[in-house]
Amino acid sequence: MHYLDAAATAPLRSAARNAMLKVLEGAPANASSVHTPGQLAKDVLRQARQQVATGLGARDAEVVFTSGGTEANNLLLKGVALAAPRGKHIVTSVVEHSSVRQTCAFLSKFAGFEITEIAVDAYGRVDEAAALAAIRDDTTLVSIGLANGEIGTVQSLERIGQAAQASGAVMHTDAVQAAAALPVDFGTGSWPGSFVDAMSVASHKFGGPQGAGALLLRSGIPLEPLIHGGGQESGQRSGTENIAALAGFGAAVATLMPQAGTRAQSLMTQRDTLVSRVLQEVPGAQLTGHPTERVPNHASFVVEGVSGESLLVDLDVAGIAASSGSACSAGKKDPSDVLLAMGYSPDLAVTALRFTFADPLEESAFQQLMDRVLQALASHTAPVR
Ligand SMILES: Cc1ncc(COP(=O)(O)O)c(C=O)c1O
Repeated sequence: MHYLDAAATAPLRSAARNAMLKVLEGAPANASSVHTPGQLAKDVLRQARQQVATGLGARDAEVVFTSGGTEANNLLLKGVALAAPRGKHIVTSVVEHSSVRQTCAFLSKFAGFEITEIAVDAYGRVDEAAALAAIRDDTTLVSIGLANGEIGTVQSLERIGQAAQASGAVMHTDAVQAAAALPVDFGTGSWPGSFVDAMSVASHKFGGPQGAGALLLRSGIPLEPLIHGGGQESGQRSGTENIAALAGFGAAVATLMPQAGTRAQSLMTQRDTLVSRVLQEVPGAQLTGHPTERVPNHASFVVEGVSGESLLVDLDVAGIAASSGSACSAGKKDPSDVLLAMGYSPDLAVTALRFTFADPLEESAFQQLMDRVLQALASHTAPVR
């Protein structure tokens, strides 16, 4: 099977698997225990935190481990909103992941927050002028994702982040998709660290295990914890830590991030080849998302007159695992909200097709894969939904 669905979950890296096995085979103890096995577990946790922090340009104390990207987004949004340093207004966008949009809807329904969702253009880029104009004296939070999982578009957030920070609001970015494919750095002089106060990431996008992630949070940002208990993660997220998963997360980040820049270049070259071949050889295919400002491993299309689902089945039979967009809303056959927000008709929006690479391939393997993908697309003979 050729796996082209890394944006949903990247394949587990051997470094992550080995780090997890080492913990599991040694029978993980509780990192809060005083005895020697407990202290060994604490060392593993400390190392994982260091690896995630170093790989992402953060300080160790800025890493709050969570169960993944969804929880990191919930923790930041609800945690900052409950602390409500300035007022009950949040600025976000219409193309956020459901873990941001639904959390905002929850805060609106149960805590009286006013949510301003900024519109996007035909490439899925947030309207910067509208976002800047939306920030008010009572805006507590601005939360806009760095890259979109369905269409790959990378947002330009610098001016929005700076304006949010200048006004005293907390600037958060969901970097779950961006961090695994771009050299994302939370350092205060870096991209996007120079203009964000908080950033969400998920282990399984780096090739670590599922069920682990982190919220990177600048110290001093007021945050009410959502999970109360034993006070783990400096009181910000209680519960016995999943030592094996976090060891795998740390190992995946430590493997991937030092080569993030060169990897992005190679991924981009192969992705661009795929995009131009699909556009040339598949009748009715259109690229979705921005043509250049997009994550380097991400190619997404709509294919006029074709059923996205049946295309995926044909690809699967041909040994290619692709996706129709966001696996995080799997099972949904409705047209994508993101594509609708970009102005696509519902008929076109249900034809979404996405290929996302985990790693650059050897040239011969890549050529073989291209032929296979193009053949499967060309032989798809059920164009009418
Ligand atoms: C942009 C974005 N944010 C958040 C998530 C949720 O992350 P997790 O699956 O780790 O809960 C996803 C999942 O794909 C995503 O693409």
